[in-house]
Amino acid sequence: MQDTAPAHRNQMSRELPKWLAVPILTLILSACSQAPANRTTPNAMDPKGFGGRIVMGEFWIQFWMGTAVFLTVMAILIYIIYRQRANRRAPDLGIDLHEPEKGMLWVWVGGIIVPVVILSIIFGLSVGSARALATPPEPEQITIEVTGHRWWWEVRYPQLNIVTANEIHVPVGEAVRIELRTNDVIHSFWLPEIMIKTDLIPGQLNAQWILVEEPGVYRGVCAEFCGLQHARMHFMLVAEPRERFEEWVEKASSPAQAVPDDELAQAGQEVFLSTSCFYCHQIRGTSASGSVGPDLTHFASRLTLAAGSMENNIGNLGGWILDPQHIKPGSLMPPTDLTGEELQALLYYLSTLE
Ligand code: CUA
Repeated sequence: MQDTAPAHRNQMSRELPKWLAVPILTLILSACSQAPANRTTPNAMDPKGFGGRIVMGEFWIQFWMGTAVFLTVMAILIYIIYRQRANRRAPDLGIDLHEPEKGMLWVWVGGIIVPVVILSIIFGLSVGSARALATPPEPEQITIEVTGHRWWWEVRYPQLNIVTANEIHVPVGEAVRIELRTNDVIHSFWLPEIMIKTDLIPGQLNAQWILVEEPGVYRGVCAEFCGLQHARMHFMLVAEPRERFEEWVEKASSPAQAVPDDELAQAGQEVFLSTSCFYCHQIRGTSASGSVGPDLTHFASRLTLAAGSMENNIGNLGGWILDPQHIKPGSLMPPTDLTGEELQALLYYLSTLE
């Protein structure tokens, strides 16, 4: 009995103070924001699109107005405290503490007129921004249909005869229409540097437009919790000059070779068409026409694997094909039971699908 009390006190003193929870939690949560495939985490504070710039302008106006109000209120508060103290110390300064008319003036001006003016300005600016975000500065020429799946993005260009996945190509400086649907639950399409998010709602068509102003590769994310692999539901946006975009269109709209040229690729195709791959994946130009998983016709040209989870290279692909549940537990891709030779041939074949 004698020992327990000091031991208990010791334990108490070793506990962290409660206020430390905030910085520690912030640190832990900031570690979560790391994108899975590489370190290029998108930054909404660094806009590279027309819509992103409108949002950022709105943010800074509200930030600086809020800062100005905060500093003004703090300055008045400090002044009042100072004056009250001075009055208490020397009540004969000639300042009358009981001036009801002056008090009411403060209530009218500081409590009603100024807030109404400031909030009206912010409201007016927000309505302007919302209107600017609703319609693109020029009519869109290209429509891209994006369908959310748990946990990947199907991408179609109906006018250009292109089907791909987890990667969107657009010409720089042109407004593009994105039509958003979902195959299962609610997802949210978000390119932090380019545009605000738009939800994908079952049974409903939502649309947004994007206009990328600087060429580059931008990471997009799913911004609505949609299950186990929500955090690995990314996509890449490749924005390139018109000519480069057209080159991509030409390549992406063409089918794959029905029969590959060299023997190893033929053996790999044989593996693809004789095991479970073709049930779920399509390779246009061959007999593989599954629609459960991503279209693989130009798989080798894509930057990432498994919806932005990893860089698209042979090593990662081998691991992904053999044991997808280890990398992305809960995804629909089943593990495969291939011999070393079959796997090598399959990897080679997939790497020829440029
Ligand atoms: Cu899809 Cu979160």
